[in-house]
Amino acid sequence: MARSALSTLGCSRCSRTYDPDRIQQLCECGAPLLARYDLATAATSLTRESLARRPHGLWRFRELLPVRRDDAVVSLGEHASPILPLRRAGESVGLTDLYCKDEGALPTGSFKARGAAVGISRARELGVQRFAMPSNGNAGSAWSLYAARAGMQAIIVMPAVSPPIHRIQCLLAGAKVVLVDGLINDAGRLVSRACAKDGVYDASTMKEPYRIEGKKTLGFEIAEQFEWNVPDVIVYPTGGGVGLIGMHKAFRELQAIGLLGPALPRFIAVQSSGCAPIVKAFREQRDVSQPWDGASTVAFGINVPKAIGDFLILRILAETGGSAIAVDDEDILEYQERLAKHEGVLASLEGAATLAAVAQARKLGTIGAGERVLIINTASGSLQLESACPPIEKLGVDDELQIARDH
Ligand SMILES: Cc1ncc(COP(=O)(O)O)c(C=O)c1O
Ligand SMILES: [Zn+2]
Repeated sequence: MARSALSTLGCSRCSRTYDPDRIQQLCECGAPLLARYDLATAATSLTRESLARRPHGLWRFRELLPVRRDDAVVSLGEHASPILPLRRAGESVGLTDLYCKDEGALPTGSFKARGAAVGISRARELGVQRFAMPSNGNAGSAWSLYAARAGMQAIIVMPAVSPPIHRIQCLLAGAKVVLVDGLINDAGRLVSRACAKDGVYDASTMKEPYRIEGKKTLGFEIAEQFEWNVPDVIVYPTGGGVGLIGMHKAFRELQAIGLLGPALPRFIAVQSSGCAPIVKAFREQRDVSQPWDGASTVAFGINVPKAIGDFLILRILAETGGSAIAVDDEDILEYQERLAKHEGVLASLEGAATLAAVAQARKLGTIGAGERVLIINTASGSLQLESACPPIEKLGVDDELQIARDH
């Protein structure tokens, strides 16, 4: 089995570096730490030829993942998620080359499985037994289930208004669940204070360096599935932005080891107009976002009023010539239905938001008709369908069922 080429942890803002083989959280300056690899070493064994011989799944990119020991790997069978051509949805927005990476197919039903698989494996390798984290839902489910598999204890703090299905999943997995009468940032503050007081590992978004390494595999897979010619545009539903930062990091690392050419996709960050701090900061050409007051959207996973990695997201949008788009909740619901009706894809509301954004970008000309565009459906729609249910005809047991008139 190939080995991890992890070499150090570097600050995303200042020049400090940290020992990766000890538990680390944020840099002293308060910014997230990012894993760095010995890329020359990774390049000697991570090649197109060696990849062709390796088993499927995210661990095939082992050199550029932080887990050193095979026996530390915690897996629920993370296969590559499919990339589906969207012919009819594409036509409806004037695109001939539109695709969806459907992350609903991953264990636990969302792309959060990637971060949990790698984050939990590395935490276990470093001797962590308990961790706490805030979550809007999917991350809590994924981390609870992977923690159960690893024999670790998870403490998940969730907004009381988050979809109940997730807290049930966490409880089934044996996690301690606490609801907070507030949003994800409030949950984050509670976690941060408790972790500091009790010396518990804080697994909040970007407060430990390894969740993003798992999210990075989304980028590795995209590059490989598109046969090392990445799409022109990648459209991502952005809350904390970990997936977006992760994909970008993946492409940079693949470039550095010679697996990808110089062209990078333009990244489009999508938010709901009910919570759009990144979109606002992007429009105002700021380096960081301001906390969004009164955040509210049906797409709960992207209801993040202030992301700790906002400066990284904004930097990537600028560097790749991308943009940031806000979509209304009604459009999110409409595009969720369209994806199901036109394509058979049961998308999450966050995923549906990306198609709504593509429609908007086409009207504005931000995306050209001939471009190859990839939207990311970050979770299965089956986890949150209450808000989407259309009216249904109801019959008494002796009524007559009328089918002929419908077709
Ligand atoms: C379904 C879904 N999509 C998108 C996101 C946002 O992810 P990120 O933190 O990478 O921006 C989340 C986060 O909770 C989510 O659950
Ligand atoms: Zn720093």
